[in-house]
Amino acid sequence: MNMSKSDQKRVAAEAALEYVKAGDVIGVGTGSTADFFIEYLASIKGKLDGAVASSDASAAKLQHFGIPVLDMNQVGTLPLYVDGADEATRNRHLIKGGGGALTREKIIAEASEVFVCIADQTKLVDRLGTFPLPIEVVEIARSMIARKLVRMGGQPVLRDGYLTDNGHPILDIRNLDIMNPVELERQINQIPGVITVGLFALRSADILLIGTESGVNTI
Ligand code: A5P
Repeated sequence: MNMSKSDQKRVAAEAALEYVKAGDVIGVGTGSTADFFIEYLASIKGKLDGAVASSDASAAKLQHFGIPVLDMNQVGTLPLYVDGADEATRNRHLIKGGGGALTREKIIAEASEVFVCIADQTKLVDRLGTFPLPIEVVEIARSMIARKLVRMGGQPVLRDGYLTDNGHPILDIRNLDIMNPVELERQINQIPGVITVGLFALRSADILLIGTESGVNTI
């Protein structure tokens, strides 16, 4: 079998369908892997009562396929959240936010009983931090936050010409040595003006479905 990266994303997305139960309202993420999942969801849409989306783009895609999109405030605890990641470790700690949807993603992850993360095998790493760590910030705090991240060893770069769906800028932090993701997430969370750091370690994924050359690995 010769599976491209895109094929690996697709098989991981398909494998996540198994976690969808009849009558569920589920959380759906953002990115190319989540897009494959949305396409698969369309094939079982009669089974779903609806979905909460982590971005305007995913909401539009769900609606395009006739899947009802609900507001987070209309729903209680979600049984399931399915989303991609930019990096993942075997401890199921993640870097997310490459697509800019990290704040809504973290909210949905927190509100979900089971978080299934779907990815191709290039995303599986021994240590987080090769992918720049996204931080969504309040505009007036961005220089102060950038200076603090420099003192922590990082190299912050403002995501040029970009605002999130919530209207805030993102700093992408290169070169951080993420030895202790839980501690670093706590530390960055405490900086005033930080809205969300794209480390998902305090609330990590529960299940990783990694698409590989030889099928899907479940971690
Ligand atoms: C969106 O903000 C991110 O957290 C995505 O989950 C991430 O960028 C994964 O994207 P791909 O599935 O396109 O790799």
